[in-house]
Amino acid sequence: MKIVVTGGAGFIGNHIAEFYSKQGNDVFVFDNLSRAILLKKNIKNIDYNWNYLKKFKNIQLIKGDIKNFKEIEKVSKNADAIIHAAAQTAVTSSVVDPLSDFETNALGTFNVLEAARRNDVKSIVYCSTNKVYGGNVNNINVYEKELRYIFEKKYQKGISENFPMDLCEHSPYGCSKLTGDLYTQEYGKLYGIKTGVFRMSCIYGTRQFGVEDQGWVMWFTIAALLDKPITIYGDGKQVRDILYITDLVELFDKFINSNLKNVVLNVGGGPRNTLSLLELIELLGKKTGKKINIKFSNWRASDQKVYISDISKAIKMLGWKPKISTPEGIKKIYDWVSSNLILFK
Ligand SMILES: NC(=O)c1ccc[n+]([C@@H]2O[C@H](COP(=O)([O-])OP(=O)(O)OC[C@H]3O[C@@H](n4cnc5c(N)ncnc54)[C@H](O)[C@@H]3O)[C@@H](O)[C@H]2O)c1
Repeated sequence: MKIVVTGGAGFIGNHIAEFYSKQGNDVFVFDNLSRAILLKKNIKNIDYNWNYLKKFKNIQLIKGDIKNFKEIEKVSKNADAIIHAAAQTAVTSSVVDPLSDFETNALGTFNVLEAARRNDVKSIVYCSTNKVYGGNVNNINVYEKELRYIFEKKYQKGISENFPMDLCEHSPYGCSKLTGDLYTQEYGKLYGIKTGVFRMSCIYGTRQFGVEDQGWVMWFTIAALLDKPITIYGDGKQVRDILYITDLVELFDKFINSNLKNVVLNVGGGPRNTLSLLELIELLGKKTGKKINIKFSNWRASDQKVYISDISKAIKMLGWKPKISTPEGIKKIYDWVSSNLILFK
């Protein structure tokens, strides 16, 4: 198969590209290497993932921009599947620069879909986000415990795909990603393309260049190991379900190989794999044997106090479930950062 992976120099796309290359496919990675620019951060060794893929003979690396229709149209010719992981990824950056966010996430995704339609690409996977549900998530009652908030009983399985998503705040990022989410669904229904829309909670894993604004599990781990200060926005009792990267890749692949035509699925570690910011700090303190250097600041706009994905639909439709538990996953990234500290210094 010819598989195009947009955002393949980033964290998720990089793992997807490696996976499909190892399965013997022809993989075309399409990325403009803009993570650091979009996040307005100096991220050391941000080209590490790009260079990492150079050893795979059946991967072609193409520097290109999804905002440029002609470029994405060209690479999509004769593709069997596109996995669309390129994006502006931070809520905070979207608030500061909503135009870049819109152009990358809304227009860029539209270009990917239109390129797929014109080239008769059979399948598209779209990396959506829990942020499409926006501030409505905060209408759920939560109870405060020592280190975390918990959802009221009715939501113990988490948030399902039919949770309301309008009449609330989203952040520009939530809006631009929702635009891509809806367009992907539309291209599936109207033009008959097989489409998987995956509304992801927090994904974490090796080769993730997490920073304060995005990729918090990895950012806390890097900061703890390098004695960098960590700012916690809010009280740190925010909870997310977290999913290890290999479980996500397996889910995408199950969808591509399934008979399902169009799906919208909430994806994360589910209720069994949740973590609060304070709990991760405590865990990292135990692992490093040091007091982690934290300070507190005001809550961020559009932050969700608790977000846990109800993954029962993904489990039922695709016979999938997360294999890597939270402690196992944290150990994996902790060990990876420990042996690659030089990348982050
Ligand atoms: N990591 C998570 O926890 C998470 C959660 C929910 C949704 N997502 C979504 O998953 C996708 C991948 O996220 P990630 O964590 O791998 O982010 P990432 O920043 O590591 O990767 C994104 C990649 O997209 C590339 N890119 C950005 N703009 C581009 C453009 N105009 N043209 C071509 N390439 C461009 C960047 O250079 C980067 O390599 C994104 O769509 C993100 O919104 C991620």
